[in-house]
Amino acid sequence: MTASTAPAPFAAAFAEPAGSPIRELFPYLSRPGMISLAGGYPSPSLFDAEGLAQAARQALLQGAGALQYGATEGLPALREALALQARERGMQAGAGDILVTTGSQQGFDLLVRVLVEPGDTVLVEVPAYPATLQALRLAQARILPVPMDEHGLQTDALAALLAGLPADQQPKLLYTVPNFSNPRGTLLAAQRRQALVRLALQHGFRVVEDDPYGELRFDGETGTPPPMPPTVRAVGEQLAPADSNPVVYLSSLSKTVAPALRVGWMLADAAVLRRCAVAKQTADLCTSPLTQTVAACYLQSGRYPATVQRARQEYQRRMQALVQGLASGDSGIRCSRPAGGMFVWASLDTRIEPQKLFDAAVAQGVIYVPGKAFYPQDPDLHTLRMSFAAPEVPQIEQAVQRLRTAVQQAG
Ligand SMILES: Cc1ncc(COP(=O)(O)O)c(C=O)c1O
Repeated sequence: MTASTAPAPFAAAFAEPAGSPIRELFPYLSRPGMISLAGGYPSPSLFDAEGLAQAARQALLQGAGALQYGATEGLPALREALALQARERGMQAGAGDILVTTGSQQGFDLLVRVLVEPGDTVLVEVPAYPATLQALRLAQARILPVPMDEHGLQTDALAALLAGLPADQQPKLLYTVPNFSNPRGTLLAAQRRQALVRLALQHGFRVVEDDPYGELRFDGETGTPPPMPPTVRAVGEQLAPADSNPVVYLSSLSKTVAPALRVGWMLADAAVLRRCAVAKQTADLCTSPLTQTVAACYLQSGRYPATVQRARQEYQRRMQALVQGLASGDSGIRCSRPAGGMFVWASLDTRIEPQKLFDAAVAQGVIYVPGKAFYPQDPDLHTLRMSFAAPEVPQIEQAVQRLRTAVQQAG
């Protein structure tokens, strides 16, 4: 046998990397009869299988265009359709302002690669989407939490935090999900959107507005969805000089059409887009032209608005089943009542031991995500996230019963 030297060590960020806390729950999901309130998975019954089958057929009939490598920035027809979505959401956009990404997850990853160096300060609303924390940890960023309340990220607290930071620790980026946040379900108040952009301009940081859920707004008292506040990027258009909008907008077809397409998109100024396109060249050359063509055909088919409408109504029914089920009597779990999206954020009575509750819930056949996954540090262990999107209403009712039994066992 030849004498051998140990292989070279892994890069520092990957020496002992923590995996996604949500993906680590996967083994529980395969247990027979388990009801999952864990992942932010769209409902299988809401996929427009017929419309997507037609779009897929149409895509394949296009032949080479759908089967060949494509431009890194994305297929022109899809960029056009996504720019139209951006304009419908009140933002200025042409096809050339859009970068198609492999899910919006890739959009954030590219931004981190082109902007963040080890030790750089990045502000994150907390509780935060775990994959954002994971990407920032791998980039060895210094993550500073910005607190939230029921109206989203607290801009007063942000202003105070920024005022106390030395010049060499000013942030490069701030990450927020202003519309029906993951995990807290909150909608960022309109005045706070203005305050956030003003702070970004004053302190010279970029804002990442991650918006996969904004279209899933529930009906209000009048039976129609109340108007949305302007996107943070649209506020940036009003407040910043032309071409200096500090807001990068990310969105996705995952929650409204199908996550398997892996089609997300970024709307940003030319300097950011160009750099992210270069970073994407080494990540995957281009997002699958086949699924991009399917997505473009689907958006052009005119079926998208009805699909979104169905999802909005169904998710509202499911949210109500979960929230009302937990609100009746003393469930030991107090939860938010979101105005859209897929998530309910909850806090536990202090008499309940969080790990005991999780174990009891799993034994009862229901699973959720314990709150600690959503904090970069100092987690509030008496919190948890539940998604009402994937299970049908009867399953949600059963999940509530199981949770109540688990609370009794853990209290
Ligand atoms: C806030 C947020 N951003 C991004 C993503 C990733 O979405 P995509 O499937 O577009 O990569 C998710 C998925 O759960 C999410 O909740």
